Amino acid sequence: MDSPYGLLAELTYACPLQCAYCSNPLALDEYREELTTQEWQRVITEAAELGVLQLHLSGGEPLQRRDIVELVQTASDLGLYTNLITSAIGLSERRAEQLREAGLDHVQISIQADQQNLSDQIAGVRSFERKREAANLVRRLGWPITLNVVLHQQNLDHIAGILEMAEDMGADRIELANTQYYGWAGLNRSGLMPSREQLRHAEEVVREARERVGDRMEIIYVIPDYYSRYPKPCMDGWASRQFTVTPNGDALPCPAAQSLPLPKANVREHSVAWIWQDSPLFNEYRGTDWMPEPCQSCDRKELDFGGCRCQAFALTGDASRTDPVCHLSPDHGLVETVVAEANDPARPSGATLTPRPHPRRLQPRTVTV
Ligand code: SF4
Ligand code: FES
Repeated sequence: MDSPYGLLAELTYACPLQCAYCSNPLALDEYREELTTQEWQRVITEAAELGVLQLHLSGGEPLQRRDIVELVQTASDLGLYTNLITSAIGLSERRAEQLREAGLDHVQISIQADQQNLSDQIAGVRSFERKREAANLVRRLGWPITLNVVLHQQNLDHIAGILEMAEDMGADRIELANTQYYGWAGLNRSGLMPSREQLRHAEEVVREARERVGDRMEIIYVIPDYYSRYPKPCMDGWASRQFTVTPNGDALPCPAAQSLPLPKANVREHSVAWIWQDSPLFNEYRGTDWMPEPCQSCDRKELDFGGCRCQAFALTGDASRTDPVCHLSPDHGLVETVVAEANDPARPSGATLTPRPHPRRLQPRTVTV
């Protein structure tokens, strides 16, 4: 068994935005009792001892935690590479300088679209201008800028404008991430799922932009797996290289696994090492022995690991089945139906999305600073 490479620390699910594509869990009540500063420091220390090299600080909005600078300092002292994944709301000049001082290595800012109205509409709050200001601040303080844009039916046709905006902002890298249909995004799937024509156009724009910008800006773009013949190698395999810890201390092999009917593993009750090596949750789909047919006898099983367990569960109710995205899966018809609906000429344009209820109500109760 390899050591984990990265820890995704979801510090809080509190968030100033209300994105309809949010993949955090639907029911947030059980995440109210957030890990304290000392508990996170223990988790980060144990993770480093286990071999973790990268710490991704996420949420919700990690800047909602008043101890964010302290946690970055702990990780830096341990020699971890630290990455803040943020909406940038709450990134004041003073806070940014403190984070820089504490050793934060990288900042990734999410933006919803290239135009203020659309971006604010998707985020559910006025935030576009503050994000632009935060990107300037990040550049002024000497961090590389990575922008992250979650793509879906509502903003995919703006992809050329999004890429131009990223160039104007001096981004070093842009991640164009197609929506993953977990959590709240699963509820909004029909309003978010792009059509084949939208994707064809987006691929063309990305190809041209890559030729134009060359090495000046890295463009990451992966087509959504509903439109692929094979599934994504989710997490590089279950409990293989990464793990997630949620605000209440649940450790997960992937960020969406809390939806699966599996035994829990919580850092308040167990060490990170025990969870990674011995917990039933992390061993459930590790390796290839658990795989059903057609994966078990397939020569791609070490390439895509049978796809995504959370997607298999969301679509079939059984996380151990072959990911229905795979054209060899006996359940592939489920994906074909969704794709056919998204490409139905009678589909109304501009579908209404249900915004995520405001998670600001979930202010951390147990943070110590
Ligand atoms: Fe991957 Fe399984 Fe499909 Fe083979 S059958 S390509 S291993 S998902
Ligand atoms: Fe959980 Fe893919 S998101 S295994």
